[in-house]
Amino acid sequence: MSRCERLLRAGLLLAGLIGPAAVQGASPAKAVPAKAAADSATPAKAAEEWRWLGVGRAATPAEVRAWDIDVRPDFKGLPKGSGTVARGQDVWESKCASCHGVFGESNQVFTPVIGGTTPADMKSGHVASLIKGADQRSTMMKLAHVSTLWDYINRAMPWTNPRTLSTEEVYAVTAYILNLADVVPTDFTLSDANMAEVQNKLPNRNGLTTSHGMWEVKGKPDVKAVACMKDCIPEPKITSSLPAFARPAHGNLAEQNRLVGPVRGVVTVAQAAPAAAPAAATPGAGMQALANKGACLSCHQVDRKVVGPGFNEIAAKYKGDAKAVELLAGKIKSGSQGVWGAVPMPAAMNLDESEIARLARWIMAGAPE
Ligand code: HEC
Ligand code: HEC
Repeated sequence: MSRCERLLRAGLLLAGLIGPAAVQGASPAKAVPAKAAADSATPAKAAEEWRWLGVGRAATPAEVRAWDIDVRPDFKGLPKGSGTVARGQDVWESKCASCHGVFGESNQVFTPVIGGTTPADMKSGHVASLIKGADQRSTMMKLAHVSTLWDYINRAMPWTNPRTLSTEEVYAVTAYILNLADVVPTDFTLSDANMAEVQNKLPNRNGLTTSHGMWEVKGKPDVKAVACMKDCIPEPKITSSLPAFARPAHGNLAEQNRLVGPVRGVVTVAQAAPAAAPAAATPGAGMQALANKGACLSCHQVDRKVVGPGFNEIAAKYKGDAKAVELLAGKIKSGSQGVWGAVPMPAAMNLDESEIARLARWIMAGAPE
């Protein structure tokens, strides 16, 4: 190698663009310079360090600061600042109320932020309705540390635009939420100096517990699940469920989830059963709806390939095959792979045998409207 070439290679190596093995075609271990080897504990360690030489760099203090934004229950990490309830109301109404409701009561986009707490809870530090097993849980009912509220808003809200609030806005809107929950008065100014006082009034400040199965490991984490293998409760008891009024808030969940994988969304909006086809007159009546119910049309079109083959292609392929309907019904029921390409079709969900048979017949009939 010429001197020039050597310098160029060293430069590329430092820039992380080529591996050290490219230097003189040597193996990494052989390429370790004597000094690096002498500085490291073992030759293997030296080789490892040399391998990554020039790749990446230490994060700068400014970069670490940009990531290190957490605020802890003891308020470590809380930046200095303050904000009034009045300012917070402006922030809330312009940036938060559209999703959480004017009074934090909405359960349209997420469970309510406000509600379910009482003056008695503020005294005891235990939210009574939570202990009773309330249908609906609000943020205020669960919140045990005011730092969590501040930190969460600071890092994650508004949902569509996180990290856009100024420190003052975060203080202000946190103060406003606390005011909506009657924890602080309307003329209150929340600041780093008085967060601890507010903490002492949170309705659920004493609500955290470590006496549950996830925590009480008695020094021996049960990684083999043996502790639960005796004295088990025979029937699991479901202790919470989606309240009836909230079920249809986001349409029919059964129709909205991914098409792969075993877990289906529950039916939250009952659907009218597709009308039975009045045979000859309109052979395709109700079939589109049935194909929709089975989510078939998210992967299939009648007249062209999408994820799966066009129904017209399928009908053409099996034309004249007396067993086609039976064969295809079997494929729809259990899934199919390798006939049309590498992409597999998952087994049909939400359909019974007779519906599957009708779909197979419909496809072989050319999937008429
Ligand atoms: C576009 C809709 C939207 C807007 C606007 C919005 N949020 Fe949210 N908010 C959400 C959603 C969705 C969640 C739940 C996120 C999750 O759990 O992953 C949430 C969660 C929260 C929570 C935590 C609730 C809990 O119990 O875990 C708080 C507090 C909150 N938002 C406050 C605010 C504040 C303050 C603003 C305005 C600065 C705001 N949000 C703006 C949609 C929104
Ligand atoms: C996630 C996408 C997806 C969904 C949902 C889906 N299919 Fe398919 N389907 C495919 C793919 C991909 C193939 C090709 C599979 C293969 O190569 O065997 C296919 C193949 C088929 C075939 C031909 C099978 C063969 O052996 O020739 C039929 C018939 C069919 N689908 C009907 C349906 C029906 C009816 C539904 C609704 C119940 C449905 N598909 C839902 C992707 C899907």
